[in-house]
Formats: sequence, structure tokens, C-alpha cells
Amino acid sequence: MAKITSLSAKEILDSRGNPTIEVAVTTTGGTGTAAVPSGASVGVHEAKVVAPAIAVPQLNGEVAAALVGKEFDQASLDAFLIQLDGTSDKSRLGGNATLGVSVAFARAAAAEQKLELYQYLGNLAGITKLAIPQPMFNILNGGKHAHNGLDIQECMVVPVGFTSMQEKVDAAAACVASLKKILDEKSLGTSVGDEGGFAPTVGGNDEALELLAASIAQAGFSNEQIKISLDVAASSIEHLDKEAMFDWYLAIAQKYPLLSIEDPFAEDDFDNFANLYASIGEQVRIVGDDLTVTNVERIALAARKSAINAVIIKPNQVGTLTETVAAVAATHTNGWAAIASHRSGETMDTFIADVAVGLGCEFIKAGAPTRPERTAKYTRLIEIESMLA
Ligand code: PGA
Ligand code: ZN
Repeated sequence: MAKITSLSAKEILDSRGNPTIEVAVTTTGGTGTAAVPSGASVGVHEAKVVAPAIAVPQLNGEVAAALVGKEFDQASLDAFLIQLDGTSDKSRLGGNATLGVSVAFARAAAAEQKLELYQYLGNLAGITKLAIPQPMFNILNGGKHAHNGLDIQECMVVPVGFTSMQEKVDAAAACVASLKKILDEKSLGTSVGDEGGFAPTVGGNDEALELLAASIAQAGFSNEQIKISLDVAASSIEHLDKEAMFDWYLAIAQKYPLLSIEDPFAEDDFDNFANLYASIGEQVRIVGDDLTVTNVERIALAARKSAINAVIIKPNQVGTLTETVAAVAATHTNGWAAIASHRSGETMDTFIADVAVGLGCEFIKAGAPTRPERTAKYTRLIEIESMLA
């Protein structure tokens, strides 16, 4: 238990220049701050974001008054926040506000116990053997993160054939360098999207995959060393031809070293997810993000439908760390993989790296190995790796 002695919030800008919130919590024996990221391709079932102009005064007023002077552990704090909000989608205080308090408190409580955040989270989740997750690097951006005519939101390289985090980061950076060279040669443009990956003007999905595969080959890597993952973010595609996409997924699963496809269909289309999973799920991971929104009930629904075998874990989709722990546990109960994820609008806060390690996530997505708000997460993982050694 830790007694909260002060709580304050302020507005900061995220990597897109949009306002977001930073929360500071002091307990008798520690302090913690947390900055909250935000999405662009936001699922309709996610916890609601309350604009900082409203959330900050609520945090500094009502929430501080309700929490200061009281003693909590993580579970009782998060339960208190859920009750104080009083809605099913955190639309009154905001999932962004509750998450800011939840993470800032976790940092303060960890400091009080002389623990790193990942160790504190490991204790919460009951994970005894901590490991570094496999990173997935989004080096080619489309969809709502780029507006470059490419439907697919994220084309990722996944360096599986390497041991250390540093080697994986270096391999991804080599792919970035070779992709830049290819794009320059083809005059396709080397500006970047929201997650730091290139956002070239490409003719379509096939060309994007060809560019990605070429960047891997020209960097000198084999299909065993680097796999490919996609986030289609299908809910964000205006005119999704489901049948054509289904056939395309089957085709690319044959043609490329495909590790996973995230949100191949819209956020309530459990049936098409299930059809795809039945067709290629043995070979390619089918990942829920907008489908499951880090929510145990949505994960249970996906399990009943046999729709997926991996789940994106974004703490701000649900709004507290305790609910995030439960979502990862539900994922693992189904025998699926958990993929911790940043958001497209990020800050310099690296808590998602500690969440990935502490909750035992098998993978992490934190964007390209470029732009400081992305590399900060990979740097934190390298730091955690050295502490685990
Ligand atoms: P978002 O994108 O942060 O814009 O929602 C990330 C994702 O869809 O995985
Ligand atoms: Zn996604």
C-alpha cells in the first residue's frame, strides 16, 4: 500500500503536435510521472479520450481531492478510478486521465519499493521469469498515419533471427537505410509517417510489400532472419473489399515470410477474422487490435469465435494498468501471444517497454527505429535487457 500525498496534471504536446496529458503522483515514499499517448486509428470499443482542456482541470480538482490522503495498492487505486469515473467506457474522466494516474502511481509505488517499473509490473502480473519481447518495427507507413494512398497502415520488419535487442534494433535500422536508398532511386519520396517509417507514394498494397521485401534483401538479410508483419487497420479503410482482401492475404502468406496480420477485417467482423484464422492461422498469426481493444470481454468473444491467436495490448485502450494485466492474462489463458503496443501519437514516456517486459508480452510494436519518441522505447528495452542479464 502507498499513501498518495499529491497529484497534479498538465497538458503537453504529443509527437503529432496534439495536446495530451502528463500526470505526476507523489506518495509518502516515492514520486512518479506518466505521459499518455493517443491513437489515430482508434477503435470504437476503446475507452474514451477526454480532451486535456477538460481532463486536466478534472484531475487537478476532483480526482486529486478524492485520492490525496488515501492509501492504495495498484488494484484498489484502479478500482477506485473506475468507480469515480462511473461510466462503462471511461467517458467522464477519460481513459487517458485514468491511465495517467494509474501509471504515475505505479512509478511512485515502484520507487517506494525500490523496484524498476518492469519489476513492479512483473510482481502485479505474477510473472517470475522476465524476458525481452520480440520487437516489430514499422518502417513503411500508410493509412491514417501517412495519407499517401497506401491502405495498409503498418508494414513491419521483425528481426527474429538475432539474439540481443541491440542486434535487432541494428538489423531494423539497416532495413531503414536500404529502404531509403530504394525509395530515393525510384523517386518515391522519403518523408515519414506518424510512426517514423517512410510514407512513399506507392501504387498499392503489393508495391508496399515488394518494397519492404527488397529492403530486407538489399540489407543482406534472409527470410529466416527477418519476417514481415502487417497492420491493415481495416476499420480505417473506407471501402474495404473483404473478398479481395481475403484472397490477397492467402496470396501474400505464400509469397512472403509473413509472421502476422493485424486487424485484417473491421473491428466487429469476428466471422471474417475466424475464416482467415481457419485458413492460415497455423502459419500466420492473426492479430486483434481494434477487434479486442485490450478488453477481457472482447478477448473472450474472440476466443468463442476462434477469430485470432494474438492480441495487441495498449494500456490506453482500456484505461488502467490493472485492466491491462487482466487482458494479457486472458490472452495467455487462450494460449495466444500478447503484443504490447505504443500509439501513433507518442510522447517520450517509455512505460510501454516496461509493460511489455513486466506483463510477459511476447512482442512489442514501437514504430520505426527512428524518431526519438520511438527509439526511446527500444533504448529502454536495451537498458532492461542489461538489467536482466
Ligand atoms: P493508432 O495505431 O495508435 O493510431 O491507433 C496503432 C495501431 O493501430 O496499432
Ligand atoms: Zn493496429
